[in-house]
Amino acid sequence: MKAEVVSMTEENLDMEAIRRGGEILKKGGLVAFPTETVYGLGGDALNPQASRKIYAAKGRPSDNPLIVHIARMDDLAPIVSGITHEAMILAEKYWPGPLTMILPKSDLVPLETTGGLDSVAVRFPSDRIAQELIKAAGGYVAAPSANTSGRPSPTTAQHVEEDLGENIDMIIDGGQVGIGLESTIVDFTEDVPVVLRPGYISLEMLQDTLGDVRMDKGLIASDSKVHPKAPGMKYRHYAPRADLSIVEGPEEKVVETISRLALQAEAQGKKAGIIATDETRDRYPSGLVMSIGSRKEEETIAHHLYEVLRDFDQSEVDFIYSEAFYTPRMGQAIMNRLLKAAGHKVIHVE
Ligand code: TXA
Ligand code: MG
Repeated sequence: MKAEVVSMTEENLDMEAIRRGGEILKKGGLVAFPTETVYGLGGDALNPQASRKIYAAKGRPSDNPLIVHIARMDDLAPIVSGITHEAMILAEKYWPGPLTMILPKSDLVPLETTGGLDSVAVRFPSDRIAQELIKAAGGYVAAPSANTSGRPSPTTAQHVEEDLGENIDMIIDGGQVGIGLESTIVDFTEDVPVVLRPGYISLEMLQDTLGDVRMDKGLIASDSKVHPKAPGMKYRHYAPRADLSIVEGPEEKVVETISRLALQAEAQGKKAGIIATDETRDRYPSGLVMSIGSRKEEETIAHHLYEVLRDFDQSEVDFIYSEAFYTPRMGQAIMNRLLKAAGHKVIHVE
């Protein structure tokens, strides 16, 4: 089936289209929609059949649990079997917003939605289109990122159409998303809250609010035998068609090294792509150079990462060399995604 595409903005909601989207979801169909992080592929979270459809449409392993999206604070209690005091503090501070919390699930949530786990991931997005759609669907929408499994998460409705346009019922085009990287995931099922996936809300922000919060060991361990706890974080996720390496070190040296590697590739008849910044883009003498944004506005870097990776997949490059982006606030989240895309291939220069 070819998806119907409807367009609207947060300021100018098309309530009739949202009502139809809600009906599709209630009948077990799939609707892609914008959120402030990335586009989501929605299905009724309480309907096991709908969750199975989501896995099939994305080509996603069914042991990789889905996030349940809500649009009213009161809708949290029925799907969890306990809320810690700390989880309540985070909900009050960051919801609606780019935060997902893992809590013990109640019987209302089918195991199909949680990939067989007895915990459930819950998020209350701030995007108004998302909120209205969730309410129109009955309150609980399971939504992974709306990409084919193994591709970068979609930040525009066109990305969703490329990947899933033939497999789902409706796509709501709400324009470019705001943040561009998936939500921060915090696990409350252990003694101390643990960040399973870094995002716009950083570890430092969470520690400022709660005190003791840890980073999942599987995310920071150099030992590849220590696996991340979020099932989805263990997958390579996305591998660009070209061979991607990250070059890390002082800016001068990074530009020099990437320039040399690009020239070397070209001398061998290969094409090189370069992921640069507004500050460095004009300093590379060769290669297909794409700026990801400005180091002075780290949000622009987060915002463009997936788009740049998708753009390089359309081009004919054999190698991609990327600068590293350990920016102050979002660097953790940006580098987590970039390192995964590069299969942790990093060249250190001094
Ligand atoms: O920003 C976002 O979170 C987006 C938008 C659409 O809301 N959604 C998203 O979903 O990124 P997805 O499915 O692409 O990523 C969900 C991640 C996966 O890594 C999954 O393994 C993890 O959350 N997860 C879900 N439920 C979990 C659970 N009960 N325990 C541990 N990890 C869980
Ligand atoms: Mg995803």
